[in-house]
Amino acid sequence: MIYLDNAATTMIKPQPVIDAVVAAMTSMGNASRGAHGSALQASRTVYDARCKLAKLFGCKSPDHVIFTCNSTESLNIAITGAIPAGSHVISTDLEHNSVLRPLYRLEEEQGVKLSFVPADKQGNIDYADFEKLITPETSAIVCTHASNLLGTKLDLVRIGQIAKAHNLLLIVDASQTAGAANIDIEAMNIDILCFTGHKGLMGPQGTGGLCVRDGLTLRPFKVGGSGIQSYNKHQPVEFPSCLEAGTLNGHGIAGLSAALDYLEEVTVEAIEAKEHALMMRFYEGVSKIEGVTVYGDFTQPRTAIVTLNIRDYDSSMVSDALSEDYGIATRAGAHCAPRLHQALGTTAQGAIRFSISWFNTEEEIDEAIRAVAELAVEE
Ligand code: ALA
Repeated sequence: MIYLDNAATTMIKPQPVIDAVVAAMTSMGNASRGAHGSALQASRTVYDARCKLAKLFGCKSPDHVIFTCNSTESLNIAITGAIPAGSHVISTDLEHNSVLRPLYRLEEEQGVKLSFVPADKQGNIDYADFEKLITPETSAIVCTHASNLLGTKLDLVRIGQIAKAHNLLLIVDASQTAGAANIDIEAMNIDILCFTGHKGLMGPQGTGGLCVRDGLTLRPFKVGGSGIQSYNKHQPVEFPSCLEAGTLNGHGIAGLSAALDYLEEVTVEAIEAKEHALMMRFYEGVSKIEGVTVYGDFTQPRTAIVTLNIRDYDSSMVSDALSEDYGIATRAGAHCAPRLHQALGTTAQGAIRFSISWFNTEEEIDEAIRAVAELAVEE
């Protein structure tokens, strides 16, 4: 199979990740629960992973790296925990439902007002719109680092400057960029960074987290066992326990920790450069094919995604044909990104997304170009 659905999950993982999960499943106790060898080993593994993530994202305090199951859980914690009822939030048309649905729920249940920076037909935004949408009630900007549909990257340094100048919280969805692009919480003025472990970080599914700026307190999304202060009726206020109720996914975190070692060795810069080169090779190949419409702006910073349609063919049918007839895995449909599909005018047809990882090759890209060319031949 040629796996080009890496924006959904990086299916091919580095071997040390797999080895670390298997080793943890045969030796790991429960982190922060008990003082015997296997529990301490779990605590050490979890703490090491916190330190590696803090280093990767420029988070000053490893204790402020919180583990969750995925970006969706992280975004729910951040959005419901940090945004005051009745305030106003600015987001963008590029967002995934993991940002949109928690925001819509706050709108319905907490009287939060929402404004969205619009995307144009190429998926670009105008940064001046953030300033234009700010009101005295605005409490936060919640935005993605990169669109999961088009790969369009937002300039977080610029958005961070706007947030800082107006004293707004900046909550960032880094689902598509963690491990695949540089993220610097300080330089970008990010208050809460939400990430998943199973995409660019190349760790196991069921891992993810958030980095919370020092001094920020969030109302916990869930409360329960913490392994400390058992007679306290409330969730401990100390990080990371305040936001980590229940047993962690220690086996997954062990795999994520191995993935972080792998990333450090190969470097995010090398990954980004290789993925970008493969993406441009694919883009240049498919954009010349008659009957193919490619979406997005390839002159702007982006992640390694190429999204297209062939003629007026239903995107799911094309994605199925790619899978069945060519062994190529892609994702079709709406990609949980309703506002951007509306901006592109693709709600009825959907679109076929090809998303590239570090493990793809030029040969695979060329085969995918040939497959698209064959499917585009008019019947
Ligand atoms: N959010 C993931 C995607 O874009 C699952 O496919």
